[in-house]
Amino acid sequence: MDVKPWEDTGLLCHDLPSHPDLSVGRVLVTGAGGYIGGRLVPELIARGYRVRVMVRSTAPHYEEDWPGVEVAVADALDVDGLRPVLEGVDVAYYLIHSMLLGPEEFAAADRQAAQNFRIVADEVGLGRIIYLGGLGDVRARLSEHLRSRIEVAEELKRGSAAVTILRAAAIIGSGSASYEILKHLVLRLPGYPVPAWARNRCQPISVRDVIKYLVGVLENSETAGKTFDIGGEEILTYEEMIRIATQVLQKHRFFVPIFFSNIHFYSYLVSLLTPVPGPIVMCLFAGLRNDVVCQDDSIKRYLPFTTVGYRESIIRALSREEQDRVHTRWSDAYPPAHELAMKLHELDEEPGHIARYALETKKLASSLFRSICRIGGKEGWFHGNWMWRLRGNFDRILLGVGTSRGRRVVSGLKVNDVVDFWRVEDLRPDERLLLRAEMKLPGKAWLEFTIQDGGTDRRLAVTAYYHTTNIFGHAYWYFFLPFHRFIFKGLLRQIEERSA
Ligand SMILES: NC(=O)c1ccc[n+]([C@@H]2O[C@H](COP(=O)([O-])OP(=O)(O)OC[C@H]3O[C@@H](n4cnc5c(N)ncnc54)[C@H](OP(=O)(O)O)[C@@H]3O)[C@@H](O)[C@H]2O)c1
Repeated sequence: MDVKPWEDTGLLCHDLPSHPDLSVGRVLVTGAGGYIGGRLVPELIARGYRVRVMVRSTAPHYEEDWPGVEVAVADALDVDGLRPVLEGVDVAYYLIHSMLLGPEEFAAADRQAAQNFRIVADEVGLGRIIYLGGLGDVRARLSEHLRSRIEVAEELKRGSAAVTILRAAAIIGSGSASYEILKHLVLRLPGYPVPAWARNRCQPISVRDVIKYLVGVLENSETAGKTFDIGGEEILTYEEMIRIATQVLQKHRFFVPIFFSNIHFYSYLVSLLTPVPGPIVMCLFAGLRNDVVCQDDSIKRYLPFTTVGYRESIIRALSREEQDRVHTRWSDAYPPAHELAMKLHELDEEPGHIARYALETKKLASSLFRSICRIGGKEGWFHGNWMWRLRGNFDRILLGVGTSRGRRVVSGLKVNDVVDFWRVEDLRPDERLLLRAEMKLPGKAWLEFTIQDGGTDRRLAVTAYYHTTNIFGHAYWYFFLPFHRFIFKGLLRQIEERSA
C-alpha cells in the first residue's frame, strides 16, 4: 500500500478542510488515557492548541508523549475533583466511558459522570463541549449500551454549554476493539454461523476519520450545539463485514445460516476466541440487535472530506500492526481504573510470598533489558510457553483478561502498557521492569525483572511477589510454587541467550 510521508508522524489531520483556530482557548480532553482520547491529544498538540488532559492517574510517559500539555488528575465520579480541572477551560472533549465496567455497572457510572461534569461545567461557565457517542435510531428498542450513550448526550445538553454531539457506530482502526474482534475471528475460525442479527446493518468508520471529525468540529464554530452522525462510505451487514475481512486477510471461510441467535451465547464464545474481554464484547454485541446507520450526512456541509472505506480501514490497521506503530489500544484502559490498582510499593508490608531466581552473566545490561522488554505477545514467554497459555486460557474461561491481550507493540514497553495478563507498573531502563498481574487471582501478584551491574558481570534476576490474606490465596501460591522454578529459571536462561 502507498504510505504517504506524513504517515511517518502518525498524524491524521493533515488533509482536514478546516484550519487550526487558536482563538478557541484552552481545550480539555477527558478520557485522554482511552482509545480515542489517546489519539486525539497528539493531533491537538500538533495543531498548536493549548491542551489540558484529564486522567484518573498520571503516568511518567505522559510528559514525553504529550509535551507542553497540562495533566490534571480527577475522577468524574467525584464532583469536587472536577472543579480545578474545568476551571479556565473553554472547550472540553467529553470522551469518558465506563463500558469496561461491564453490562451491569457501566450505565449508572456513565450517567453519574456526565451529570457531575455538566454541573461543574455550568458552575465554571464552560462554553462548549464536544462529545463522541454512539449511533442508533432513538425510536428503536436500543441495547443498553446505545441507550446509555444517548443518555449521556442528553445529560450534557441539559447544561448551558453548547454541546456538539458526534454519533459513530463501530470504529475500525489498529487497536480498536471492533477491529480486533473481527481480525481474530477471521484468523481463528474456519467458518461462521450466520444468525438473523448478523444481517443487521452497520456503518463502520475508520478511526482516522473519527479523529478528523473531532478536530474539525472544534475548528468550525457553526457546529457548536449541533448533533451529527458520522460514518464511513458503506453500509454493511455484520456478515458482509466479516466476509470483507476474510478477503483482506486472504482466508477462505464458510458461512452457514443458523436459527439459534442468542446474542449472550455468541458474545461469550467470542470473548473466549478473541483477546477482547467478556465485558467489552458483551456490551458491543448487545448493540448488534440494532441497525447502526447514519440518519443524515449534514456533517459533510461543514467538513466535506472523503472518508476511508471499510476495506481500506482494515488494510490500514493491518499495516500499522505490521509496522509496529499502534498508538492506542482498547486494552490501554482495561481493566477499568487499572491505574488505581494497588502498587507494589504501596503495600503496608512486604508481600507474604516471594520467590527469587537469578543468574550471573557477562552480557550487557542494555542488551539484557531489550530482551526482557520483548516478552509476551507474539514472541511468547521464551520458555514453558504452553504453561503461560494454559494459565491464560483458564483466566479467559473465568472472563478474565487472559494472555491473548498480547501487547500494543512488539518492541519496547512503557509504564501502563499491557503484556498479556500483566501490566507494566515500573520501568527503569537497563535496571528494572515491574509487571503487575491483572488475571483473576485470589491475591495480588507482581513479577520483577532486575539487572544489577557488578563490574565485569551482571546479575539478572526475576522475582515473583504474591500478597494474599485468604486461605485460597495461600493454597494457590503453594500449588504453583513447583512450576515457578521450572518456568523462571528457563525464562532467565532464554533472556540471557537472546541478548547480544
Ligand atoms: N472505540 C469505539 O469503537 C467507539 C465507537 C463508537 C463510539 N465511541 C465513543 O467514543 C468515546 C470514547 O471511547 P473510547 O473507545 O476511547 O473509550 P475507552 O478507551 O474505554 O476510554 C474511556 C476513557 O474514559 C475514562 N473514564 C472512565 N470512567 C471515568 C471516570 N469516572 N472519571 C474519569 N475518566 C473516566 C477512562 O479512564 P482510565 O484510562 O482512567 O480508565 C478512559 O480513559 C465513548 O463515548 C464511546 O461511546 C467509541
